[in-house]
Amino acid sequence: MTVAKIALVPGDGIGAEVVAQGRKVLDAVLPGVEATEYDLGAARYHRTGEVLPESVLQEWTGYDAILLGAVGDPTVPPGVLERGLLLKLRFAFQQYVNLRPSRLWPGTAGPLGNVKPGEIDFVVVREGTEGLYAGAGGTMHTNTPAEVATEESLNTRHGVERVIRDAFSRAGKRERRKVTMVHKTNVLTHAGGLWARTFAEVAREFPDIETDYQHVDAAAMFMVTQPQRYDVIVTDNLFGDILTDIAAAVTGGIGLAASGCINPEREFPSMFEPVHGSAPDIAGQGVADPVATVLSVALLLDHLGHPEQARRVEQAVAAELSSRTPGQPLRTEEVGDRLAAHASN
Ligand code: NAI
Ligand code: MG
Repeated sequence: MTVAKIALVPGDGIGAEVVAQGRKVLDAVLPGVEATEYDLGAARYHRTGEVLPESVLQEWTGYDAILLGAVGDPTVPPGVLERGLLLKLRFAFQQYVNLRPSRLWPGTAGPLGNVKPGEIDFVVVREGTEGLYAGAGGTMHTNTPAEVATEESLNTRHGVERVIRDAFSRAGKRERRKVTMVHKTNVLTHAGGLWARTFAEVAREFPDIETDYQHVDAAAMFMVTQPQRYDVIVTDNLFGDILTDIAAAVTGGIGLAASGCINPEREFPSMFEPVHGSAPDIAGQGVADPVATVLSVALLLDHLGHPEQARRVEQAVAAELSSRTPGQPLRTEEVGDRLAAHASN
């Protein structure tokens, strides 16, 4: 019996190496997943000029989720794969919640001296379809001294309200039940006003959830000096992009950071992927850490309504990370085998 239909996009560089491990772990905890591989990314682009054909998008509407490794290669002009694949998916499938959890796992050494494993455990709910990433803007007089370029931030009441409501409902399922909104309402008064008013209104629907607000520059500082203070952070597209890289850095690095581009209503498939890219510097060597991808599989399992399996994957990751010796090289496949074996018991 098929329990879920998943599209796999290994992509470029280490993408294929880590997605193979993600699939292994998924199969180990949830038998009956029907997984279909799609050849997309830099290689396909060079071969056929295609980035994300309409036909693939159509097919995916019948899928439950997409697991992606990474796309990108120095030989492809910037923006082609990012806008043409990742952003196109987010917009087409209304993946308005870009979910990025951050935890300092036991056994991992973060760069911060003042925090112990277990003390950092927050999740950033980043808006995924609007803001400065909406593609609004244009250029004139390009390549002349009079060149003009605009890039506008689009914020709709509908878009802001739905992502804020999602953040509150996620906070309601967590122990600390706190939502911090991050913006720059003192300078970006147009968008900031909309965000602040909407946040206050939605907060009234959740009287048992604590609220907080920080300007993004202050949040960037506190994420380094006092990351323990956060539970759920809700923020706009660009701020969330930058803050989540800081979050990944303070919790043991890019090899561990997972993410989901989620359509909470499940009208469209959601996409799960490690935060890292294709890592051309280590591609093909079998040394990439698959943990970020495997933790993305845990997010996928949660999203599809398999929390028990998701917790087993997380427990396998916790065991793996506790057993590591910092600085010791790892083999991608061996890590995948250990995680799959641990998660299946
Ligand atoms: P990157 O994340 O690929 O690599 C940055 C550094 O982290 C490299 O030194 C790499 O070796 C290391 N690293 C990354 N993942 C690792 C893992 N799982 N285990 C161990 N080390 C790991 O970022 P970079 O170099 O800026 O980008 C490379 C390509 O990836 C570019 O073409 C970029 O556009 C693309 N990219 C794609 C993303 C996506 O598909 N969502 C996200 C970020 C970058
Ligand atoms: Mg980023």
